[in-house]
Amino acid sequence: MDEQYTEMVKDHFFNPRNVGEIKDADGVGTVGNPICGDVMTIYIKVKDEIIIDIKFKTFGCAAAIATSSILTGMAKGKMLDEALKITRDDVANELGGLPAIKLHCSNLAADALREAIKDYRKKNKR
Ligand code: FES
Repeated sequence: MDEQYTEMVKDHFFNPRNVGEIKDADGVGTVGNPICGDVMTIYIKVKDEIIIDIKFKTFGCAAAIATSSILTGMAKGKMLDEALKITRDDVANELGGLPAIKLHCSNLAADALREAIKDYRKKNKR
């Protein structure tokens, strides 16, 4: 595994996509990273089981911000069942890899998305 951030990680850190909050979100998921204490929240809007909008707020390191950014792009337009299958490895691979000591940072994004989907399903009694 690389020991440096890839260009893709830097791009998503310096120009993060889908940053912010969705006020009337259909699902919200917040997770904290037990290793470092960083926190991420993902907001989703859902229509006909498809994620039509997604935003994030991350209080975390460069890798956490880059993984949130890339994850939102990966999840947007996906069916909920497909989005649930996105793993931390998918997120890290999509960024061209993460330095070994930053791999734990990619947990947050996939987990926060899963929590947001769970929240949506709970509210919609599924
Ligand atoms: Fe906390 Fe990266 S150091 S998520």
